[in-house]
Amino acid sequence: MNQKTPTWLDRAVIQTASLHPYVPGKSLEQLLRETGLSKAIKLASNENPYGSPPAAIIAMQQACATTHRYPDGDSTALKKALAKQHDVDPARILLGNGSNEVLELLIRCFADHKAQVIYSRRSFIVYALATLAAGAHGVAVEDDADWGHDLVAMLAAVSQYTRVVCIANPNNPTGTLLANASIQGFLDALPRDVVVIVDEAYHEYVAETHANSIAYLYHPGLVITRTFSKAYGLAGCRIGYGIGDAELIACANRFREPFNLNSIGQAGALAALGEQLWVKTHVVKLLFERDVLEKALQERGLLLAHSDGNFVLLRHANAMRIHALMEQQGIILRPLVSYSMPDVLRVSVGTSAENHAFLRKLDQVLTQL
Ligand SMILES: Cc1ncc(COP(=O)(O)O)c(C=O)c1O
Repeated sequence: MNQKTPTWLDRAVIQTASLHPYVPGKSLEQLLRETGLSKAIKLASNENPYGSPPAAIIAMQQACATTHRYPDGDSTALKKALAKQHDVDPARILLGNGSNEVLELLIRCFADHKAQVIYSRRSFIVYALATLAAGAHGVAVEDDADWGHDLVAMLAAVSQYTRVVCIANPNNPTGTLLANASIQGFLDALPRDVVVIVDEAYHEYVAETHANSIAYLYHPGLVITRTFSKAYGLAGCRIGYGIGDAELIACANRFREPFNLNSIGQAGALAALGEQLWVKTHVVKLLFERDVLEKALQERGLLLAHSDGNFVLLRHANAMRIHALMEQQGIILRPLVSYSMPDVLRVSVGTSAENHAFLRKLDQVLTQL
């Protein structure tokens, strides 16, 4: 038989066939282009609606003067400041281009093609994408009746091939929160050769009520990940980090590219760490706004469940139609079809003015269904 030799493109197509790129929330620019509107509101990516801490903006402007130089590849000053904040050795910190990169580095490092990575089916989609990219096998465990992680079922899914378990706390997109005691029980029951990522991207929104999970770092396989993208208001800087056992972190660090954090982001994050009052003040404001939104959705019979993140969940049989009509009105929301929740829209909490505009437009749209 005359078989054609595969080209580099044929090979690449086969190799990437199962990979699906992450689809982020639609950008304001894209919606304005599509609709011809002059302004729009984005409530789709759980960003900080209040902006960035002022000291971080100044530090980033100053950092622009030295961008002809490569950044500090080890992010020494930022790592030291984070180590001080969490009272851990700097060697226990892994910095990434967003916590997204930290998740990818950990999964790539610990899951080979024979490995299983366990996560909840309705949890941050990057766990599944990073697992596929690593050539490992994802095990998506059904969530419990309250949309939360079912830790009993996740534990039951652990096998000799399990290398990594990912838990988002609070969870995105369902907004559920696991008590630290439940996580501790889960950690204690796991085999010691499993790496557990507890992804705390939304930690600052529960920090007052939720005991400090850093205390559970006695577990040798635990890595807690955090980000500057949410409460710290620096989503565009792409800075996140993981804290874990120093040797485990050193292994994951081998996969990191040399200059993964740019100098402007490093400067912004370092300055933002010194702006705790700004962060706390804006978290309080946001939690007040989240209550307003949840009450408003509840009054309309549209609230799926309470969320512990900086977003709320709208449930309606015609959710996708609402999403489309809201975009025509200049409001970008996040459909959860990819999480098998076709009747749910995730709505990031905005400023008071943005939230009121959202509710006004929502009421108009509901009359058009
Ligand atoms: C649960 C969770 N983890 C991680 C991330 C990634 O955040 P970043 O890469 O901006 O730090 C997100 C982003 O929305 C998230 O929701």
